[in-house]
Amino acid sequence: MKKASNWTRKDLLSIESLSLEELETIFSVADSFKRTLKRSQKKLPSLRGKTIVNLFLEPSTRTRVAFEIAAKRLSADVITITSNVSSLTKGETLRDTARNIEALNADLLVIRHSAAGSPQYLSRIINIPVVNAGDGAHEHPTQALLDTFTLKEQLGDLKGKKVTILGDILFSRVARSNIWALQKLGAHVTLAGPSTLVPVLFRELHVEVTHSLKEALADADAVMLLRIQHERQTSTHFPSIGEYKSMFGLNLQRASWLKPDAIIMHPGPINRGVEIDSQLADSKRSVILQQVTNGIVCRMAVLFLCASATSQNDPKKLS
Ligand code: CP
Repeated sequence: MKKASNWTRKDLLSIESLSLEELETIFSVADSFKRTLKRSQKKLPSLRGKTIVNLFLEPSTRTRVAFEIAAKRLSADVITITSNVSSLTKGETLRDTARNIEALNADLLVIRHSAAGSPQYLSRIINIPVVNAGDGAHEHPTQALLDTFTLKEQLGDLKGKKVTILGDILFSRVARSNIWALQKLGAHVTLAGPSTLVPVLFRELHVEVTHSLKEALADADAVMLLRIQHERQTSTHFPSIGEYKSMFGLNLQRASWLKPDAIIMHPGPINRGVEIDSQLADSKRSVILQQVTNGIVCRMAVLFLCASATSQNDPKKLS
């Protein structure tokens, strides 16, 4: 478990703030967990006695369930609160909700919220670790961790590899976190999609920007598709689903523009027949479900490292 003891962060709030060494520490710990999950006894005692609260104030399937499974595999007690069953519906503030969760002796808070910056805000007012499970259009750090972990499994070292992110970049926290992660790992990033959703302003992040699908796919080692985030945009950004599909939807014919061994990724949930056709989503090129599975070990690593940074746990001892 080399490098795990280098981790000192209480919170995981963004990928932007992580060093390359910290990213590699997370991958190293996730890799160790992945090996332990091949055992018949999958449960590890690493966070026994700890209580993790998942506060999910936006819909989620993959992230919420993966955090719950990750916590359980580490023997933590886990409680999930969703917006419809929380006292936020009765007018309680987010600050009071978080302070009450801390007062109930939770050891770590995982939060998904529609407001960018909410995990950062909570990390300043409570003492327990805060893990960002997606904040508005800002960041989705554990998604980028599982995406790049999967890419490394598929492509090896990402230095010099070409990754195209295609779709609704403007409103995508997944795109932002992946841009940071991929660049720290030495990959070349191309952003593609309609100009309203992929403005050339993104070139300031030292990425390629193109509005030509053929150009975006031609030399990519991996293409990461994004869902159109209707909940975060206005009609001026996105004229119609039909128009998007006709210009940028990935189908079998357009996938022939990819290199033969290029892989297709998607963070989910996928809109079949919009950003991707079913034949491709379910094809051998697709690593979409491998991404989901890797979400467990990447989140185990994050929970373990953040909880360990504030406790007597020895990060070198995973089991
Ligand atoms: N990728 C992702 O965040 O999916 P969920 O919204 O289902 O968690």
